[in-house]
Amino acid sequence: MAQSMQKQLDKMERIEIEDTDTSVMNLRFPDAPRSGEIVAKAEHLTKRYGNVKVLENVDFQLLRGERVAFVGQNGQGKTTLAKILVGAEPATSGAATLGYNVSIGYYAQNQAETLDPKITLLETMEKYSPPEMRTKLRAILGGFLFSGEDVDKKVVALSGGERARLALACMLLRPFNFLVLDEPTNHLDMLSKDVLKQALLKFNGTLLVVSHDREFLSDLTTRTIEFRDHRLIEYLGDVNYFLEKRRLDNMRDVEKRTAMSGVKAYPAPDNGVPVLGAEEKKQLQRQVQKAERRISELEAELKTIENKMAEADFYTRPESNEVLKKYSDRKAELDKVYNEWETAVEQLG
Ligand SMILES: Nc1ncnc2c1ncn2[C@@H]1O[C@H](COP(=O)(O)OP(=O)(O)O)[C@@H](O)[C@H]1O
Ligand SMILES: [Mg+2]
Repeated sequence: MAQSMQKQLDKMERIEIEDTDTSVMNLRFPDAPRSGEIVAKAEHLTKRYGNVKVLENVDFQLLRGERVAFVGQNGQGKTTLAKILVGAEPATSGAATLGYNVSIGYYAQNQAETLDPKITLLETMEKYSPPEMRTKLRAILGGFLFSGEDVDKKVVALSGGERARLALACMLLRPFNFLVLDEPTNHLDMLSKDVLKQALLKFNGTLLVVSHDREFLSDLTTRTIEFRDHRLIEYLGDVNYFLEKRRLDNMRDVEKRTAMSGVKAYPAPDNGVPVLGAEEKKQLQRQVQKAERRISELEAELKTIENKMAEADFYTRPESNEVLKKYSDRKAELDKVYNEWETAVEQLG
């Protein structure tokens, strides 16, 4: 009897899980009415903040159903373009337009920090929820790995990762046909990242996601836009295709490569120049600096000797031969160090 009751219970539970579309395995963004064919568009768009030039005459278009990733070093303007596209920031010149019937769900880079710290998780969800979703709030929170007790915690008591999860859970309360997610996996643990990724894979609208996370982006998007030197560079594949094309081992190298002081280290895509490893690059940088120090020492020394040589009685002095010998040695060394410097600089690109 107990066994058959248990069987009945199992069945009921199973049915319940199948019925709700917000269980852990089946968290999904609600469907929204379709947008027009062109979802977002930037034409000849330039953006400056005061004297800081961010984007220079860029063009970008996003079609319905596309999934695009924005990648690139910090400070290259990914957030800025996302903001301009959703209408949260004006362009300096050029135009950004949204398509017909586009409804945007925007997760800003600092979205988690915008939550009200004084209210609970459940109250936060209620605040953003349309009435018809009220019954699903706990299930959505559960899907984002919050337990039944968690839901009455105050936001102030949450960790960075928990806040990010809550802010993302709020995105599932209303139907959008265009999701713009700016670094949504910051502070997320692996399981939450996967929950989000699975939900995004099921999303049938248009997706624009800014991320540095290779695993998260892998197979999630079909086009990758790299932000570099105020321009956009397009790769017609996901993050793995992008890294392969750029001959980079991982997303951290995307960061490192331009982190060097003023040295332009990016080769153009597909130009056949082998990309250096971070360690090789550091070594070359050291060589360049060492050569530069030695060059200025040698130049100063040669200058001193030349001044001496310019004195009227120089050639009559007993030490003149020795000084001349030293002069030609230093000159030879200067040539040599200069060549080494040139080679290292060339290798750095
Ligand atoms: N509100 C702002 N005022 C002034 N400068 C800004 C502002 N927002 C961003 N910037 C600058 O614009 C550049 C691009 O920033 P951002 O779009 O945040 O880059 P990313 O998202 O690629 O890291 C950076 O140099 C940044 O300091
Ligand atoms: Mg950013």
